[in-house]
Amino acid sequence: MNIESRYERARQIAEQAYAPYSGFRVGAVVVAADGREFAGCNVENSAYGSSICAEGNAICTAAAAGVRKIDEVVVACLDAGECYPCGNCRQLMREFGVEQVVVQDGRGGLRTHPFDELLAHSFGPESLPRNG
Ligand code: THU
Repeated sequence: MNIESRYERARQIAEQAYAPYSGFRVGAVVVAADGREFAGCNVENSAYGSSICAEGNAICTAAAAGVRKIDEVVVACLDAGECYPCGNCRQLMREFGVEQVVVQDGRGGLRTHPFDELLAHSFGPESLPRNG
């Protein structure tokens, strides 16, 4: 699948978002190094802090399927022109070696960022002495 079709899949899963509090529906597709793709939407909670972002949902779904390296994350939002991953999701991406993130450019197109642009000087698995 190409970026456009991944983005389309991200939009489709965003339709499943459970976002009764924000009304902000997000979908994400992650592409594992082995080519498998996993999708997730945001799932909110009445205890707001327990809400789960679309990217985190997709990343955890991939991890549960055995994925340990993710190449790309594609994010779609149905309720805003631009939607960048939150800081927590950037850190979740860092753990699995995400190399690029695709987001809406706010003008009907897509924008691809190298991961380091979104999380510079980051802390990751190899930052721990036991893994380095
Ligand atoms: N949200 C995501 O799922 N992904 C993002 O990249 C930004 C924000 C969700 C969290 C919450 O359910 C809603 O959007 C509003 O913040």
